[in-house]
Amino acid sequence: MPAMTYSLEGKKVLITGASGGIGAALAEGFAARGATIGICARRADRLAEVLERLQKIAPDSRSWTIDLNDLDGIAPFAKQVEAELGGVDVLVNNAGIPKRRHVTRLTPEESESVMRINYFSPVRLTLALLPGLIERSGQIVNISSVAARLGPPIESCYAASKAALTAFSECIAVDLRDTGVGVHIVNPGVLDTELFHLPDNEPGFHSTDIMVPADTIVEPVIAMMNDGTIEGYVPEWFKDVVANKFTDTDAFITGTKAYATQVEAAR
Ligand SMILES: NC(=O)c1ccc[n+]([C@@H]2O[C@H](COP(=O)([O-])OP(=O)(O)OC[C@H]3O[C@@H](n4cnc5c(N)ncnc54)[C@H](OP(=O)(O)O)[C@@H]3O)[C@@H](O)[C@H]2O)c1
Repeated sequence: MPAMTYSLEGKKVLITGASGGIGAALAEGFAARGATIGICARRADRLAEVLERLQKIAPDSRSWTIDLNDLDGIAPFAKQVEAELGGVDVLVNNAGIPKRRHVTRLTPEESESVMRINYFSPVRLTLALLPGLIERSGQIVNISSVAARLGPPIESCYAASKAALTAFSECIAVDLRDTGVGVHIVNPGVLDTELFHLPDNEPGFHSTDIMVPADTIVEPVIAMMNDGTIEGYVPEWFKDVVANKFTDTDAFITGTKAYATQVEAAR
């Protein structure tokens, strides 16, 4: 792979879902490297807290309150961001929701609403900002999940929404090969955020022993933009877990069934 570097100094970055968690951590990490940050989410009070911290180091940073479930609002929002931020060099599609629900209790409506926020909204935003990103030889960072590559218990529609985002990202990385636009898929494992405490979810099967702080993701994402890495895992050891799965998917899923049974028995 050819050596590349991507400096965030002076760049305009839009990060969705930055009222907390991974989005806020990336916003602060990128601002510390000289970028001006645009953040958006639904909760105005939480955005205001993040923006206050950002503006201490990146004074022109700004925020927008938006519900990305409203897909028809996304193209006009993209125009507004470009006008008010002065263009977008880096788009981080981070906003997302979990859905920990056993398939026997999952409704079609739930499945479709997860797809809307986790897949259709980042696609809409990417398409709306793409002409500007191409013009500026920008970067697209899609926050997917290890769930896209594994077969976790009670996460069928969540994992499917992330797998869709991953497949979309792989394909556009190919389509955009001659444009100068970098495409990156980031698969967090278990980062300590509100995602694991949101209502309307069943008890998870993840181990809290392996949980790492949200800001663990900042350096790996910057490194991916710098060296052109297309897919990365945080923590990195998940890459080996996924590689192991694809050497023998049957054995891996059989092992996951045994793990799920064991966790349930211990409750
Ligand atoms: N934490 C992990 O271990 C982990 C693992 C795999 C993947 N991920 C992915 O990482 C991303 C960030 O998650 P997180 O862990 O940081 O969880 P989080 O703390 O719950 O953050 C999710 C963010 O998305 C925003 N959001 C949710 N629905 C939205 C909507 N309809 N419109 C606009 N914004 C919306 C939330 O803000 P508001 O509520 O204010 O709207 C929040 O800022 C997600 O895509 C998640 O799937 C996380």
